[in-house]
This record gives sequence, C-alpha cells and structure tokens, in this order.
Amino acid sequence: MARVRNLARALALSAALTAGPLAAQEGDPVARGGYLVRAGGCLACHSDLESDGPPFAGGGPIETPFGIFHAPNITPDPIHGIGGWSEGDLAAALTQGTAPDGGHYYPVFPYTTYTRITDPDIADLWAYLQSLPSVARPRRAHVLKFPFSIRSINLAWKVMFFEPQRFAPDPERTAQWNRGAYLVEALGHCGECHTPRNPLGGLSRDMAQAGTRFGPDGKSVPNITPDSETGIGDWSLGDIAWLLKTGFTPEGDDVQGRMSEVVEHGTSHLTGEDRTAIAVYLKSLSPIYNPVRPNDDDDSDTGGDDW
Ligand code: HEC
Ligand code: HEC
Repeated sequence: MARVRNLARALALSAALTAGPLAAQEGDPVARGGYLVRAGGCLACHSDLESDGPPFAGGGPIETPFGIFHAPNITPDPIHGIGGWSEGDLAAALTQGTAPDGGHYYPVFPYTTYTRITDPDIADLWAYLQSLPSVARPRRAHVLKFPFSIRSINLAWKVMFFEPQRFAPDPERTAQWNRGAYLVEALGHCGECHTPRNPLGGLSRDMAQAGTRFGPDGKSVPNITPDSETGIGDWSLGDIAWLLKTGFTPEGDDVQGRMSEVVEHGTSHLTGEDRTAIAVYLKSLSPIYNPVRPNDDDDSDTGGDDW
C-alpha cells in the first residue's frame, strides 16, 4: 500500500516537474506549490543536480567565504527530511529563519528574501513539499570555518541584518508591477546574488540589484538596474523576458554559471506574464551606476573565495 502511494506520489511529482508553464493562480495547492518552488529556486539548491540526486533530497556544495554549505533534504522523510514538520514550522523557517528546535539558520538559505512570501503561498509550498516522495538520503554536514561553524552566531547576524517583513503591494502601482516586485523581492531572490554584500554577508540594500564583483563562487554578478552605462538600461522588456525564458542575452550569448541554473530550473518554467512582470519591475528601479565588469565579458574572473 505504502509503495503504491509512493509510486503515485512519484508520478505526480514527475508530472509536476515536467509540466509546462502553469498559470500561478490555477490548479490545486500541490500544482501551485510546484510553480512556486520554480519561482523560488528551491529545486536548484535542495537537489544535487550535478550528481543526478533525487529532487529536494539535499543539494550539492554551495561554496562561500565562510565555508561550504549543503542544503538539507526537504522531502517528507521522517529522519533525513522534514517529515516531522508542521506547516507552521515551514513558515517559521522561511519567514523567520528559525528551525523547529529554535536554532537559527545560516543566511545562505535566503530567508532574508523569503520573509516576504505570503501566507497562501507558504500553504501551497507546504502542500507541494508534503506531496514529494520521501527520500531516505542522509544530510551532508556543512564544512565551515571557525567561528561560523557555531550555529548560534546566526542569532547575532540576524540582530544586525535581518528584519522579518511581509510583502506589501504598492497601491499606486499596477497589478503587473506588484506581481513583478513580489517575484523579484520575495520569491525570486534575485538580490541574493545581484545585490552586493558587506564583509559579514549582509545585503547592502542601498545598492539593491546593482551587481557585485564578489558574487557566489567568487564570480562577478552583473548590475541589473536600468543604468544605461553599467546596468541593463538599454534592454527592452522583451530582452529581459527573453533572457529569463531562454538564457540568451540580446547579443545572443548564453548566460553562464549560477544564472543558467536560475533560468533552467526557475524562470524558464514561469508563465510569460510572470517573466514580463519581472521585467517591468526591474525597469522601474532607480538606475544605479556600478561598474562591476570593466570588460563586461570577463568570464575568466575567478576571484578566489572572497565575495
Ligand atoms: C541558495 C540556496 C537555497 C535556496 C534557493 C533555498 N534554500 Fe532552503 N536551505 C538552504 C540551506 C543551505 C539550508 C540550511 C541552512 C542551515 O543549515 O542553517 C536550507 C534550509 C532549508 C529548510 C530547513 C530544513 C531543516 O531541516 O532544517 C527548509 C524547510 C528549506 N530550506 C526550504 C526551502 C524552500 C521551500 C525554498 C524555496 C522557496 C528554499 N529552501 C530555497 C539553501 C537554499
Ligand atoms: C544564484 C545567483 C543568481 C540569482 C538568484 C539570480 N541571478 Fe541573474 N545572474 C547571475 C549571474 C552570475 C549572472 C551573469 C551570468 C553570466 O556571466 O553569463 C546573471 C545575469 C543576469 C542577467 C543578465 C545581465 C547582463 O548584463 O548580462 C539578468 C537580466 C539577470 N541575471 C536577472 C536576474 C533576475 C531577474 C533574477 C531573479 C528572478 C536573477 N537574475 C537571479 C546570478 C544570479
């Protein structure tokens, strides 16, 4: 019986993972949650895709200046996953960065962004995660440098850099703009890579989306504010939406590295309306002059392990 149930779940999962774009508001909670995990980039971090690991059963190494993190197994396995959790536990993890035992998460889990996810979306994410087949794949420990290896250090970090927030639509703006703002600022965690950080890993909000030379893996991340010289001021709405769909820039280059994962496992699965909404929001940001890539084609930049 359990095997039949697991098989049914596995089929539902593969259907959900391979289904084409699905309007965000349609379908049952599991289907809506399946859309949200794409928009939120959960799959790419929580699955070891390079080694063909099962979806959501734990991710590959994430290298940072503080050490190497492994995103845990978030399938419903009672021992290795989050089988013993409630929906409230998921809400606390995503919006407060707090574990069921009261421990504090490392901000490499982007709860600094997910804190803005709405309650109905958390309910749908929960329904989707619950529907996954349980995978008994042990967690891989983080390999961190002292003092970052002490989990309670995250409490100090949160006091300095984290403020729980809810997404508040701006009534002066259109529904399309607000949808774009939500996708970028709450789910899409674009700023987790495109916004520079201070030496302790806090996001520099006044430079939001203005790019950084020291992004994940020590690589630079481009400025995506509409600055015409150093950002994407020359890109049309269609150019941005096209990149999010296909991974191609207006010049016909394909995006590399982490952004290719964002497109492959995330934005290419969104509806055209949602990609356009993201573009509308990005184009509305204040342009910030920030030359991140002097030669702009500098893919050989391997700036060591500092961001
Ligand atoms: C950038 C990579 C990344 C992304 C994107 C990401 N996570 Fe995580 N997540 C992590 C890491 C790393 C941890 C472990 C943090 C720690 O140990 O303090 C984690 C922890 C968690 C936990 C706690 C699990 C436990 O056993 O305590 C949950 C639940 C979770 N993530 C769900 C999600 C969901 C849902 C999404 C998408 C909305 C998501 N994550 C997106 C990296 C990520
Ligand atoms: C995990 C890190 C990461 C996340 C999350 C991320 N990006 Fe990127 N993005 C990058 C990197 C790295 C590049 C540069 C890719 C390259 O060199 O080809 C990039 C490139 C881009 C470009 C092309 C800019 C140019 O000048 O070529 C756009 C547009 C873009 N990202 C938009 C977004 C949006 C919108 C989101 C959120 C939905 C997002 N990115 C989320 C890392 C990320």
